[in-house]
Amino acid sequence: MLGRHIVVFPSEIVDMSDAIGHPTARFITFEGGEGVGKSTQVRRLLTRLNRAAVAAVRTREPGGTPKAEAIRTFILQGRSESWGAGAEAVLFAAARLDHVNQLIAPALDDGKWVLCDRFHDSTRAYQGLTGGVDETLIKALETLALNGRQPDLTLVLDMDPEVAFRRLEERALEAGLVATGDRFEKEDLVWHRRLRDNFLDIAEANAERCVVVPADQSEDQIEDMIWSVVHARFGDQIASVPR
Ligand code: TYD
Repeated sequence: MLGRHIVVFPSEIVDMSDAIGHPTARFITFEGGEGVGKSTQVRRLLTRLNRAAVAAVRTREPGGTPKAEAIRTFILQGRSESWGAGAEAVLFAAARLDHVNQLIAPALDDGKWVLCDRFHDSTRAYQGLTGGVDETLIKALETLALNGRQPDLTLVLDMDPEVAFRRLEERALEAGLVATGDRFEKEDLVWHRRLRDNFLDIAEANAERCVVVPADQSEDQIEDMIWSVVHARFGDQIASVPR
């Protein structure tokens, strides 16, 4: 498993502070299993980009627009579970189409970078490869929902699901909650191990777009790794700023 990690170390950061032009808006997605710390890293990258004078917005899937948030609530409450993975793939795609048309595409066209917590690779991994939905349907739904937009970079946060679930439980305890698990969190460990492998396969098959980030490290270390990846890709558009 480890051999498949693509790690870019902070020492590879190139100082491009003199090279800031008018930035081309970039679309960056964050993917991975449950509890790997995506949301924290989306927030951290947003802050760092803003400090580098890059206009950026943060959003999430399913969700990001009122219609897509309504679909999110419906799915995560488990109300579509009995409809099967195929119908859920259709629901995620419907939410995504609205999200792309109403938020993602307008922001990019306006010159803003978009950071999205989950996107189409989640449908590929959860409903397609892990849920068994036929690849032809997944591809057709992608064509519909992406509407010609593709992420420029996908960061796949990778962690042993057992460790991730322990962290989720600890966080719930700290917040005085009982970790009950939503629609997908309650699947068993074997399922989540398969999901992890499927995300790694997606990253391997799309190596020009995806970078696997080992997520079992401190938040600061992960932030630095992500910043070095972003800077290596788009450094001609952004200044190098410290954490
Ligand atoms: P969320 O609470 O946002 O989980 P996380 O913090 O792990 O992102 O719930 C989103 C859930 O929906 C998560 O279990 C992954 C799942 N999902 C899919 O199954 N398919 C999809 O296309 C998307 C976007 C999410």
